[in-house]
Amino acid sequence: MDDVRVLVTGGAGYIGTHACVQLLLAGASVVAIDNFDNSCAEAVERVRAIVGERRAARLTFRECDCRDAEALEDVFATCGTVRAVIHFAGLKAVGESVAKPLLYYENNIRSTLTLCETMARHGCKTLCFSSSATVYGEPASVPCTEDFPTAALNPYGRTKLFIEHILSDLQKSDGEWRVALLRYFNPVGAHESGTLGEDPKGIPNNLMPFVQQVAVGRRAELSVFGNDYPTKDGTGRRDYIHVVDLADGHVAAVKKLTTDPNAGLITVNLGTGTSTSVLELVAAFEKASGKKIPCKMVARREGDAAEVYGATQKAFEVLGWRAERTIEDCCKDQWKWASANPYGYLGKPDDE
Ligand code: NAD
Ligand code: WQD
Repeated sequence: MDDVRVLVTGGAGYIGTHACVQLLLAGASVVAIDNFDNSCAEAVERVRAIVGERRAARLTFRECDCRDAEALEDVFATCGTVRAVIHFAGLKAVGESVAKPLLYYENNIRSTLTLCETMARHGCKTLCFSSSATVYGEPASVPCTEDFPTAALNPYGRTKLFIEHILSDLQKSDGEWRVALLRYFNPVGAHESGTLGEDPKGIPNNLMPFVQQVAVGRRAELSVFGNDYPTKDGTGRRDYIHVVDLADGHVAAVKKLTTDPNAGLITVNLGTGTSTSVLELVAAFEKASGKKIPCKMVARREGDAAEVYGATQKAFEVLGWRAERTIEDCCKDQWKWASANPYGYLGKPDDE
């Protein structure tokens, strides 16, 4: 990827930072942009430290909101010719999207429209989009294959589904576009250095960050949302994918799109093809950390399916990529990150 410059939106975020690392290690040049809505500049500094001075010289960072057409224009005009874009930037909290739907539609959809317009103006028509397994709604069966019917259960999910449709229409209208819709399952884990990881603001919505905060003593116990599902131990099962495997999936997608003129529109799952229950994940985390995670059984959370995991065959056939890391690896790296950074990048907040 020596001659490829990739623009990474949301490049200071959880998945974006790991993708920047893997892209730089693969030899690409990276222009990362972020408005720091859910991230901070320190995360970008950590990326530079991981890849080392020589590779870090190929990383340009700009604070920029993707909805700001002028600022985005300036990035494309002054940061060198961008060959491909990975579009991570977006808001992602399901509960918040129910409370503030306009915020989610405005941010996620306007960002994408402004980005695509700017890309087209600069003749860059190669795009990987962060979609989500949430577009499968409550799947009728597992594993989810890419041809399953789509449905969205909340405004966040609808932004992902609408953007999938927008990008599909765009690609149909102009065959020069090469687009990958990448449907992530449940990203977890952290960089093996322990210096880069997820740093949620406030009370975490997702399982792994919550477990992590119990382990470091920030929360007393984990509420397990339902133990009466038709699964082996009664708790929900999900497809947890290590964030570095996920980042490698993006490197593979960029390679595919930049080398295959007939790529067109590709829709692929990025998952592991297996599922882990809440209690199995807790047990794996306890083993990796040596910490006890007290659990309290509570009612199911509305909208949660019993089991979700993705089929992986298409990703392997189309991208030559498959996830390598196990749930034990995820917990080991998550703990390394958590124990070294119990309060994330910026230390203990005033209100804790
Ligand atoms: P994140 O919040 O850590 O990263 C997203 C980044 O985008 C943040 O740094 C935020 O500041 C930035 N951002 C938001 N709006 C922006 C805007 N208008 N302009 C510029 N920057 C903006 O989240 P993440 O977990 O890294 O997720 C990345 C993408 O992957 C998101 O689009 C998310 O919806 C999608 N996704 C995430 C998951 C998950 O569970 N983490 C699962 C499926 C899909
Ligand atoms: C996992 C399991 C919960 C928290 C969400 C989004 C999805 C995607 C990934 C972006 C479930 C259980 C959780 C807790 C629990 N994001 N749980 N106690 O719901 O599969 O997916 O993140 O696209 O759109 O909906 O992930 O981590 O919230 O939950 O028992 O405190 O853990 O019931 O079985 P989910 P999750």
